[in-house]
Amino acid sequence: MNSNIVWHDQHVTKSARVSKGLHKPCILWVTGLSGSGKSTISNAVESALFEIGCRTFLLDGDNVRHGLNKDLGFGEDDRIENIRRIGEVSKLFVDAGLIVLSAFISPFCSDRQIVRDLVEEGEFIEIFIDTPLEVCEARDPKGLYVKARAGEIASFTGISSPYEAPQNPEIHIKTTQCSIDESVGIIIGYLKERGYLNV
Ligand code: ADX
Repeated sequence: MNSNIVWHDQHVTKSARVSKGLHKPCILWVTGLSGSGKSTISNAVESALFEIGCRTFLLDGDNVRHGLNKDLGFGEDDRIENIRRIGEVSKLFVDAGLIVLSAFISPFCSDRQIVRDLVEEGEFIEIFIDTPLEVCEARDPKGLYVKARAGEIASFTGISSPYEAPQNPEIHIKTTQCSIDESVGIIIGYLKERGYLNV
């Protein structure tokens, strides 16, 4: 880091923002295979939070890769950089007092741990969208598994690139056992029980 770059303390702090709000800021880190339901569940959770007046923002893998991270591919180094940048952006949203939903495959435990360590204790909530590979592959909403099996997509998660499932996620959603509404209920219930929501 350039030693001529000096950190400035800002006057409006995170705690000042929180004291004005309906909720504590946090990252809902949504991880799982492609086609597992991350985006669907994250959108539904964001809508539910928005309805009750929370300030939220949704960062989604496919969309962020159209802009901020459009220079990155799916090799190991690029995936690490993808998550590093998303982690930093998520932290900025937390500092701004928002509940940020970050929906990325984020296949490596070590990268998710790096993001956890970026924020304060309790500000990183890992949500494992646990859908078996064969179910994701049968759904194949974007037709990518067919292409990956045909060898047309290199390093495809679950097929030719690993996915390291969370060992101890704060929330574990088995999508073959609960509906989208039930999944939303589990996540909102967690936030209420743990005092993230003052509503
Ligand atoms: S991550 O592994 O770097 O966290 P990210 O969540 O940003 O992935 O993007 C995943 C999305 O990119 C998938 O849902 C899929 O639509 C698309 N995609 C394109 N190529 C690949 C690939 N090789 N592996 C996984 N997803 C891919």
